[in-house]
Amino acid sequence: KTVGEELRADAVVVGAGVAGLTAALTAAQRGLKVVVLNKGPAWLPEQAEQSTSTFYAQGGIAVVDPDNPEDSVALHVSDTLAAGAGLTAEQPTAEIVADGWRAVRRLVDWGARFDTGPDGRFLRTREGGHSVRRIIHAGGDATGAQVQATLGAALTRAPVRLLDDSRATAVITDTGGEAIGVAYRDLAGDGVVWAPTVLLAAGGVGHLYAATTNPAGATGDGIALALRAGAAVADLEFIQFHPTMLYVPGARGRRTLVSEALRGEGARLVDVQGRSVTEGVHPLGDLAPRDVVARAVTAAMERTGAAHVYLDVTAIADLERRFPTVLAGVRAAGVPDDTGRLPVVPGAHYLCGGVATDAAGRTGVPGLLAAGEVARTGLHGANRLASNSLLEGLVMGRRAAGVAVDRRSAPVRPIAFQVPAELPAAPRSTLQDLMSGEVALRRDAEGLERVDAFLAAAPRRDQSDGQAAEDAALTLTAHAVVAAAKARTESRGCHYRVDHPDTAGSAASRWFVLRDGVLRP
Ligand code: SIN
Repeated sequence: KTVGEELRADAVVVGAGVAGLTAALTAAQRGLKVVVLNKGPAWLPEQAEQSTSTFYAQGGIAVVDPDNPEDSVALHVSDTLAAGAGLTAEQPTAEIVADGWRAVRRLVDWGARFDTGPDGRFLRTREGGHSVRRIIHAGGDATGAQVQATLGAALTRAPVRLLDDSRATAVITDTGGEAIGVAYRDLAGDGVVWAPTVLLAAGGVGHLYAATTNPAGATGDGIALALRAGAAVADLEFIQFHPTMLYVPGARGRRTLVSEALRGEGARLVDVQGRSVTEGVHPLGDLAPRDVVARAVTAAMERTGAAHVYLDVTAIADLERRFPTVLAGVRAAGVPDDTGRLPVVPGAHYLCGGVATDAAGRTGVPGLLAAGEVARTGLHGANRLASNSLLEGLVMGRRAAGVAVDRRSAPVRPIAFQVPAELPAAPRSTLQDLMSGEVALRRDAEGLERVDAFLAAAPRRDQSDGQAAEDAALTLTAHAVVAAAKARTESRGCHYRVDHPDTAGSAASRWFVLRDGVLRP
């Protein structure tokens, strides 16, 4: 293989969202030479389509303000455990939640501006599963955009090399199985970054489905890179569907999120006949955990035969000021915004599981770390608590930087390596339609087998093509999601088996690895 540009660094980060950039900045501040591979184009705040899920996060950051007498780390942990439906790992959760306030203060030091009240303190909203108002926000509902802009601006002032339009093609491991670099492809050809620490912060998998709140690049790249490098994944069956994605008839791909914070501020879910969607379903009603509300929305659609339900927003007096991002998305999609109700459906939103890591972001492959949505720390269990993801990205990004500092003098001896020229890559829209039909809010053995058979027959395609490479990542990720969903013969959190509707008395997470091209528990 011909290698174009060959770089050396102390750490190479794959992904330029909250976890990746927090790690890169922290590591650079601690004297490390860092390279960031950004699959998307050079970042501009005003560009129409953004390449990170971080940018699109609306509701905010769930964090305990130590001066709020109504809240505590213990309460935030207990809400997270309740949402996670028995699979949340308590110790890492307590540690991540406890680190949240410090992580937010650091972001403020880097320039982030959150919405504040007359007393100068952060305003707080509420979302599903939270027992108190603890979600801080920026620009009303533009929290992710603020986080991305802050980190992006700080990065330009830091000694970090950011390579745009650069997609990682493989994590390179040495003969001892240790990660020593990343192969990548940019507009000019192939390159490699040699480094003792490789951090995967490549985001989620929303484009496994025909419609999603995720940006176009959320194609499971990090999951596929990790599996091919020998790392384990866990909890992949738990793909969270946000209850309120804007309904746009016939649209595929990314769609506007209608933040749960609207419900936190008084909006109500009603079916097309005006009846409450969640009455009698859960004591928290429209603010029940997401898996519960998403299933209630689906049930209401089936009951009425309609293709969507409505979010009645008439109770929110200052909609325009408080939710400008939602309204801009609604208008851009050509959906009327003056009727007092927005058509919404559940949409693929977040991967609760991911590459299995310890509390510092280490995978089982020495030198290979994961942080952010691509990682499974145990915080999200079977169903992520709303707005815990920016929190996790901030905290785990910093911890990953700490590991990189510790590993900076680990030896890296460049080796000859091969990136697969061809990989199985199913045709994307057929894959998305099958996943949307069989592996979304409801699953059963027959449907899962059907998807498995389709994936097993995927043609091998040339990986020099970016679309084929993404399709290969989607194909392997789908395989892993289906394997996990088949193995879990119960219903729990985001994973509902029509043929196994009960929740088992106890449950454990399952780890899968790729051996000789086959996913094994
Ligand atoms: C939202 O604003 O509803 C999304 C928040 C999240 O996904 O955590």
